[in-house]
Amino acid sequence: MIRGRGTIRIEVLNDASRSSAEMARDVRAGLLSVPKDLSPWPKYFYDERGSELFEEITALPEYYQARAELSILRETADEIVERAQCRELIELGSGSASKTCALLDTMRKTGDRSGYAIRYVPVDVSESVLRESAERLLEEYPGLEISGFVGDFDRSLGRLLGGPGDGGRLVIFLGGTFGNFTPQRRRSFLGELRAGLREGDHLLLGVDLVKDARTLVAAYDDGAGVTARFNKNLLEVLNERLGGEFCPDLFVHRVVYNLRERRIEMWLFSEVEQTVEIAGLELEASFRAGEGMRTEISAKFTHEGVDRMFDEAGLTLLDWRTDGLGLYGLALGGPRKVK
Ligand code: SAH
Ligand code: AVI
Repeated sequence: MIRGRGTIRIEVLNDASRSSAEMARDVRAGLLSVPKDLSPWPKYFYDERGSELFEEITALPEYYQARAELSILRETADEIVERAQCRELIELGSGSASKTCALLDTMRKTGDRSGYAIRYVPVDVSESVLRESAERLLEEYPGLEISGFVGDFDRSLGRLLGGPGDGGRLVIFLGGTFGNFTPQRRRSFLGELRAGLREGDHLLLGVDLVKDARTLVAAYDDGAGVTARFNKNLLEVLNERLGGEFCPDLFVHRVVYNLRERRIEMWLFSEVEQTVEIAGLELEASFRAGEGMRTEISAKFTHEGVDRMFDEAGLTLLDWRTDGLGLYGLALGGPRKVK
């Protein structure tokens, strides 16, 4: 069947001045906490350079997550799409959407057989990466309707899921980005998602699994130093957006696995005693020599843990798949039926 020509429509959701004020508030809170902690706001990593560096990370030999997730997706896409009766794919934090094709391939086959158009709704704070991936996907899937949103899903989940529809939507949140949230944000996020899902909609969540500390630390402290550059790029983002005067070379990238919290933590340690002016915050941040600032957490999960989180949020865990080595998990959920 020949489909009509596809379309790309991209809407910028958040107003820039509100985003800047929010960033100023977040970073101020992070720099004033003890220890300094920017990890509650993972979105600030992803300026254009940060998104490019993340792409490089996904190809590193130590960073098994992206390959493991893709292998599960390839193996299970047919079943997932069939089970979710999926016509519309909503991808949160879509990035380069490099793994999305595994699902779109199956959706296209089903759409062609049944004579309906398929729709893809990517959502990402990084405009450059969203536009590039939309254009690439339209070339690969000429009939695809792409309706992308540049913006922060922290603020727009209700709006994103509030449109018309009668089920058949699959919300995907891949890459383990869910693990970058604080536990409290994980709960509120699943609750907001649950509230936006209708009967017949589904959620596909990718999570990195608990494993030995060595493998985990290596994935965030690669030999080529790409993750260190990704980490230090956060300081460049603060310089650019808040008029900061951080000198990234005066900080060292460090990674620890926090066993109790079951999470990787990325830190930047100041090599010297220094005071950094941040004009946009009218703030001087002082660092002692050797003082650390946490920049990211990346929580690791188990099957039972995901089951419990889904249950608490009013979601039913319908399917759970891991890769052959048990490194990574994909959870398919749906809104729990009210009896
Ligand atoms: N899903 C992709 C990319 C993961 S990287 C993959 O699996 O490879 C995390 C992505 O989430 C980045 O593209 C980043 O820009 C986006 N992101 C992080 N926080 C966000 C937020 N609050 N709102 C929208 N996008 C966000
Ligand atoms: C996007 N997110 C899931 C990555 C992770 O593994 O936590 C971000 C990342 N940070 C360092 N390397 C990758």
